[in-house]
Amino acid sequence: MAQLYANAMQSSILGLYAMNGGEGPNSYAQNSSYQRGVVDVAKPIIEEEISLNLDIKQFSSTPRKPFRIADFGCSTGHNSFPAMQIITEAIEKKYQTEGLISKIPDFQVFFNDQVMNDFNTLFHSLPPKSNYYAAGVPGPFHGRLLPKASLDFAYSSCALNWLSEVPKAVVDFTSPAWNKGKVYYTGSKQDVFDAYSNHYAKDIGSFLEARAQELVSGGLMALLVPGVPTFENSGTSYTTPVEMDLIGSCLMDMANKGRLCEAKVDSFNFPLYFTIPQELKSIIERNQNFSIERMEILNNPGKRTLSSAQSRATYLRAVFEGLLINHFGSEIMDELFDRYTKKLAASSLFQEPDNDKSIIIFVLLKRKVE
Ligand SMILES: C[S@@+](CC[C@H](N)C(=O)[O-])C[C@H]1O[C@@H](n2cnc3c(N)ncnc32)[C@H](O)[C@@H]1O
Repeated sequence: MAQLYANAMQSSILGLYAMNGGEGPNSYAQNSSYQRGVVDVAKPIIEEEISLNLDIKQFSSTPRKPFRIADFGCSTGHNSFPAMQIITEAIEKKYQTEGLISKIPDFQVFFNDQVMNDFNTLFHSLPPKSNYYAAGVPGPFHGRLLPKASLDFAYSSCALNWLSEVPKAVVDFTSPAWNKGKVYYTGSKQDVFDAYSNHYAKDIGSFLEARAQELVSGGLMALLVPGVPTFENSGTSYTTPVEMDLIGSCLMDMANKGRLCEAKVDSFNFPLYFTIPQELKSIIERNQNFSIERMEILNNPGKRTLSSAQSRATYLRAVFEGLLINHFGSEIMDELFDRYTKKLAASSLFQEPDNDKSIIIFVLLKRKVE
């Protein structure tokens, strides 16, 4: 049993999982309309903030160098490309309106994700007429990835809900936070929730610390962070954590039917956390390297693209299958997601996309001058 826990911890720490690669029926590329909705709803806000907050006078007064942008947690790129287009075009527009057309810089975009990410699909799919030079940056974004003061604009969407690892206490059977019989904190003991919440604060702190080193003074960071309006769960609506808990219940059903061993479920927990706006704000303020220029709750229109149980199940399959295969093996995946689809279909709650009360927290941060 100890080996099961050790393996589970190891694969989440090393990032030995990724969204489903390629372009097939279960791929992230084909099943991320939910996340695409986030780019669409954020577009006018990002454009407005670049026009208001980006100090191009400071940038164009230094000897000509490329304007560097990084997307942290880009997956196979299909939602990242439109986001990078929005950002680069908004910057060009700002140069135009300030009469500095001749000074428009070259753009360089760094696409970051875990080492197991399907970067081949990303580079194959790069838009042929993009206005930037592309580079891949593999590795966990909770640590440093780029040289000091080399980055002008940081962006991340639908990725900062991923933890660097499963909180150790929830898979330690000697701990009060041991999450026996469950795979997530939803509906679990307070100790389990606290272990997740503390880990999240530490991880976001590390992310901000790393970006504070990489960003130039005055550099901007646009974060689109998946969250929940409140940690309480209502019986008449749901959020992504509730859906994840439902996957856990399918795994337990399979353990009860002898389709897999119960200890295997006990040693698995999802390394994700969905914050509330006030909690995220406090973590950012504690870091002290950034000023919060704008913070807003967005309602993701992408949720309406998931109107059937099948499409909801495949959307989460594209996200979690790699992680689940690492722990449970690929043999049980069809059965697991078949059970999950049936549970979604059997509940009127999940039939209505507007019952999904998950939120996206938009934050625009500015690197303070050192
Ligand atoms: C749901 S996808 C979002 C992808 C894309 N930003 C979008 O909006 O479609 C989350 C991405 O974050 C990546 N990710 C999670 N933890 C990470 C980490 N510690 N370092 C780098 N990337 C990470 C995952 O591998 C995944 O590709």
